Amino acid sequence: MKYDDDINLEKKFDLHGRRALVTGSARGIGRAIAIGLAEYGAQVIVHGVSQSEHLETALAAVKKHSPHSFSVIGDLSFPNTPNSIAEQIKQHCQLPDILVLNASVQYRTKWFEIPLEEAVRQMQVNFNASLALMQICFPLMREQRWGRIVTIGSVQEFRPHPDMAIYAASKSAQENLVRNVARQVASYGITVNNIAPGVFATDRNEEALSNPEYAKLITDCIPTHTYAEPSDAAGAALLLCSDAGRYITGANIVIDGGLRLPG
Ligand SMILES: NC(=O)c1ccc[n+]([C@@H]2O[C@H](COP(=O)([O-])OP(=O)(O)OC[C@H]3O[C@@H](n4cnc5c(N)ncnc54)[C@H](OP(=O)(O)O)[C@@H]3O)[C@@H](O)[C@H]2O)c1
Repeated sequence: MKYDDDINLEKKFDLHGRRALVTGSARGIGRAIAIGLAEYGAQVIVHGVSQSEHLETALAAVKKHSPHSFSVIGDLSFPNTPNSIAEQIKQHCQLPDILVLNASVQYRTKWFEIPLEEAVRQMQVNFNASLALMQICFPLMREQRWGRIVTIGSVQEFRPHPDMAIYAASKSAQENLVRNVARQVASYGITVNNIAPGVFATDRNEEALSNPEYAKLITDCIPTHTYAEPSDAAGAALLLCSDAGRYITGANIVIDGGLRLPG
């Protein structure tokens, strides 16, 4: 066998010339992924529901690494928001060739009490909006024969929470879509993958985890006995969004400190 020893990992992770939309990147995991991609040179489109201090500070952090980055807004529970986001992007640059579908909504309700509108809203933001953004960005990715799509799922795909049945189902549906589409777009140089986080210390968990008894219950279930920080997702996202991950598609990378493993 003839070896190519010029691996040049630095070049494989380099994202200069790429445009990355990270939905829900005003805060939490999406914010860390946005900063990580910017650090490696991507022009990043930061996104939040509306203009906010969170969005401004996230954009400022991203711009330190990638000055041409900008922000867009929109509530993904409205079916037309993916189109509106695309229109906002087109005022600055071409549509993205890296798509990180991170925004989600999550309600805690017993499954037999879930009102239809709550179920529909979760499916709209966590699944339908992801599909719509993938459909919007696919033609450009196909034309340039390079694209990266990463959805953010949840460990609840494997280990459902008793009060979040629809949230878990929406994440499993999204991951199934990833595997389905990955096979169909691979020949265009487009990869499609899912990242499934475990328990991350972000705003959405702040209230629940501030209860010491509940927090202990949770950390006792995690083999590492710690929560993750938002930045713990950034490395995996960079791998999947760069040339270093070009042969990874249809995969599900679980970042959960071992939470999904049977005890
Ligand atoms: N944190 C965890 O432990 C955990 C575990 C498993 C999976 N996840 C998944 O990881 C992803 C990020 O979670 P996170 O904890 O980092 O979230 P987070 O801190 O709650 O931030 C959520 C982000 O999504 C945006 N967002 C919320 N509702 C939206 C809507 N209707 N339309 C558009 N954007 C919306 C928010 O925008 P604004 O800032 O403008 O409000 C915010 O930027 C989610 O997909 C979540 O399901 C998280």
